[in-house]
Amino acid sequence: MAVDPTEFRIAMGRFPGAVTIITTRTPDERRGITATAVCSVTAEPPSLLVCVNRKTGTCAGILESGRFNVNLLPDPSHDLAMRFAGAGGVTGEDKFAQGDWSEDKRGLPVLQNARIAFSCDVTDSMEAGSHQVFIGRITQIHHGDGEALMYEQSRFHRLQPL
Ligand SMILES: Cc1cc2nc3c(=O)[nH]c(=O)nc-3n(C[C@H](O)[C@H](O)[C@H](O)COP(=O)(O)O)c2cc1C
Repeated sequence: MAVDPTEFRIAMGRFPGAVTIITTRTPDERRGITATAVCSVTAEPPSLLVCVNRKTGTCAGILESGRFNVNLLPDPSHDLAMRFAGAGGVTGEDKFAQGDWSEDKRGLPVLQNARIAFSCDVTDSMEAGSHQVFIGRITQIHHGDGEALMYEQSRFHRLQPL
């Protein structure tokens, strides 16, 4: 028997995550959400996996374009993270009014000061409950400076070396 969703959320809250903004672009607009459900899949071929809520315009945008970018947020950028999580009711193209956004070679939004950013082509996609799991082949990597922004137990955190 499965645990209930509340117990799962509390447990996953203790699981620290690096904070990213996943972006995409359709012919009409840019879309993006804050996400921690991002992980490496394989180095051969270089690929990663993201889980995106199907209710979001970003999910629809990735399904339409077949592309996404993962921007690892630098510390500090928690305001931007909250904006792309929908804080203040900001949504769609309006989210991009904050942040230093440029484009990769194919026009997808890249955060100029991202710690690291990956441009990806979707190679596989599957439904998993409320979310869509996308596997993306990495086509371009953008390198930035600074430290990654982290999230745990509903708070943003700073990485500190031991
Ligand atoms: C720290 C943090 C991590 C999140 N991780 C994910 C995630 O991995 N996948 C996802 O679909 N939504 C995630 N969300 C929620 C989305 O950011 C949120 O549903 C979305 O931005 C809403 O955008 P919209 O109002 O434009 O639809 C996360 C939110 C926060 C604050």
